[in-house]
Amino acid sequence: MIDCCIFDLDGVVVDTARYHYLAWAALARELGFEFTPVQGEATKGVSRMASLEIVLRAGGLEGRFSAAERERLAAEKNARYLRFVSQMTPAEVLPGVAAFLHDVRSRGVRTVLGSASKNAGTILDRCGLRPLFDAVVDGNEVSRAKPDPEVFLKGAAAVDAAPSVCVVFEDAAAGIEAASRAGMRSVGVGGGASLSAATMRLETFAGFTFEQLAMKIDRD
Ligand code: BG6
Ligand code: MG
Repeated sequence: MIDCCIFDLDGVVVDTARYHYLAWAALARELGFEFTPVQGEATKGVSRMASLEIVLRAGGLEGRFSAAERERLAAEKNARYLRFVSQMTPAEVLPGVAAFLHDVRSRGVRTVLGSASKNAGTILDRCGLRPLFDAVVDGNEVSRAKPDPEVFLKGAAAVDAAPSVCVVFEDAAAGIEAASRAGMRSVGVGGGASLSAATMRLETFAGFTFEQLAMKIDRD
């Protein structure tokens, strides 16, 4: 049975993973090194400050900055990221996502956003998606980053759903692990190579229906 669908935001609902990467790569360039897209994969699903550590390590700069300097670097990246976000429109919602959310809700199944991002609310509002979620749990309410299951457990609790009836949609390995640690099934969204632990894979939401999800995931 599926009573609740929990969606990661970046890379699942909208293609902001690209903007996160571009903002980190620009910061790295300022610091004197290239941060490659492959290295960028490791920042997916990871909190802002933990992502900064990944970037600094890639440039051999770990341990080089004080806590205050790291805060400043993260703020600089976020300002750059928000410049991309401020240009976003509903057209940037990934194909099929809005239709799938409507389909899920029409079955009486709850929809929850479970994101590590502190900018999730801004993005939902810019893309007109907020009314399609029964609850939103984001980086402002969570203290332990994925793969810790906190964000998904809080999301399920917000709509009073048991983990066993929740399905998590994720594009990051850390998120798939978080779902599994929460006792939830998961759908690995997109072509990422590191999602093999997901209960099932989904290339795109375009044409995907709740009935197809239930058939695939509830077979057992
Ligand atoms: C996650 C992204 O959703 O949010 C990460 O996958 C990002 O790449 C994290 O670092 C934190 O986002 P923000 O918007 O709070 O910096
Ligand atoms: Mg993601």
